[in-house]
Amino acid sequence: MKRTLTLAGILMLLGMSWAATAQTDTPDWAKETKEQKEKRMAWWTHDRFGMFIHWGIYAVPGRHEWIKHNERISDADYRKYFEHFDPDMYNPGEWAAKARAAGMKYVVLTTKHHDGFCLWDTRHTDFKVTNTPYKKDLLKPFVDAFRAEGIRIGFYYSLIDWHHPDFPYDRIHPNGPSDPQERKAANEKRDLKKYQQYLKDQLTELLTQFGKIDELFLDFSYPGENGKGHQDWDGEGLLKLIRKLQPSILVDNRLDLDHTDWGWDFLTPEQFMPAEWPTVRGQRAPWETCQTFSGSWGYYRDEYSWKSVHQLVVMLIETVSKGGNLLLNVGPTARGVFDDRANERLDGLAAWMKFHNRSIYGCTQVPDGFTAPQNCMMTYNPDTKRIYIHVLEWPFKSLHLPGFKDKFKYAQLLHDGSEIRFRTGSHESSGANDVILSLPVERPNVEVPVIELFLE
Ligand code: GLC
Repeated sequence: MKRTLTLAGILMLLGMSWAATAQTDTPDWAKETKEQKEKRMAWWTHDRFGMFIHWGIYAVPGRHEWIKHNERISDADYRKYFEHFDPDMYNPGEWAAKARAAGMKYVVLTTKHHDGFCLWDTRHTDFKVTNTPYKKDLLKPFVDAFRAEGIRIGFYYSLIDWHHPDFPYDRIHPNGPSDPQERKAANEKRDLKKYQQYLKDQLTELLTQFGKIDELFLDFSYPGENGKGHQDWDGEGLLKLIRKLQPSILVDNRLDLDHTDWGWDFLTPEQFMPAEWPTVRGQRAPWETCQTFSGSWGYYRDEYSWKSVHQLVVMLIETVSKGGNLLLNVGPTARGVFDDRANERLDGLAAWMKFHNRSIYGCTQVPDGFTAPQNCMMTYNPDTKRIYIHVLEWPFKSLHLPGFKDKFKYAQLLHDGSEIRFRTGSHESSGANDVILSLPVERPNVEVPVIELFLE
C-alpha cells in the first residue's frame, strides 16, 4: 500500500512510537524471561483444545447473549429473564464428561457476561444466581465437576457491565440517553473509580475462592471515542492483582495492553481463521481462536447456521497446523443442558478425537521446508518427531509427498495403526525427491483420515 505522509501523520507516528516505548517498560511485578513464560504456558501449548461455555440469564430468551443490547432492553424489562432463570436440569458432571469425551482439556466459563449477571454467590452485587428462582451457586459445582474429569479451569469475566450503576454509558451500552449532552450529564453521576474497584473485588473472589484457575478470559476493550480501554479498567492495576492472586494463570489480550509485551499472554482471534500463524512485532505469538457452533455464543434457539462435524474437525486441525489453540463454544439451554444440536457436534468430535488426538496434543506447525501434499493439512509433534498428514479429500491410491525423500522412515494410518507402504521418485507424475504413499482405494471410515509419519 502506498501512503503519503502528512505532517499530522508524521506527528502521529512519532507520538505512537513514543507511546509504544514509554508503555512497554515492563513493571517489576511483570518481569519474566521468555523461558519462564514458555514454561508457564506449557500445559496450554500442549493441550490445544478447550471448551468455552457461555451461560447466563440470556439463555432464557434464547436469542443471543447480546440481546439486551440488540433489542435495547431496559433493566426493568430484562428483569423477567432473571426472575425466570431456573436451570433445574443443571448437572455439570454431564457437561464435563462430554467435554472430556470430545478431547477438550480445559474449560472457560462465563462467570459474568456483559449484562452483568453473575453465576456465583458474589458479595458485591444482588444481580446473581442465588437471587433467581434457582437460588443456588452454579460455579463451585461446575469447578468441582470439571476438575473431577481432569479438565483445567478457566474463567471468562466481562469487563463490560450493563447492569452496574457506576459503569459509564458508552457507544455500546444498551441503555442510557442517546443524546451526547444528556449522556455526559448522566455519566457525571456514575463513578468510574467505584466500578474499577468492583472489577477488583469480583476478580479477587473468583481468583481466591475456587482453587487454582488456569486461564482468565477478560472481555473486552473498545478504546476510542465513547469507548473503553485500559485506562478505564485500570488494566495495569487489574493485571497486577490477577498475577498476585494466581501467579501462573494465563490471561488473554483483551485488556487493551497489546502495545506492551507484558500485558497479555495470548491473542484471541474470534470467529475467523487466521491465514497463518499470527505475529506480534515480527514474532510468532501464542494464540487461541474462539469459535462457535452456530454464530452466537449464548443459547440461540432459532439460529440455523450450525457448522457440521466435518467443518469443526477441520477447524481444529487447521488451528493446530498454524500453531494455535481452539476454544470451542457451547451455549447451554435455560434448563441447564446442552441441546441435541450441540451434543451431535460434540459426539462427532469425540468419535474423531478418540483415534486421532495424537495429531492434536503436543502438536504445532510443521518445521519450515515441509510442504503439505494436495488437499492435506499437516501438524507436527516436536517431541516425538512425527508429522501428521490430515487428508481432507481421499485421493485415488497415490498420495504424493512433495520433497519428502529421505525425510521419514515409516508411515501408518493413525486410526488403526496399519502400515502404509511408500516408494520414492520414479512414478511418472512425481519428482525425484517426492515420495508416493500407497493408499487403500477405500477411504477410511473416519471424519478426516490421518497419516502418521515417523521422521528420520
Ligand atoms: C465478544 C462478544 C461476546 C463473546 C466473546 C467471546 O467479545 O462480546 O459476546 O463473549 O466475544 O470471545
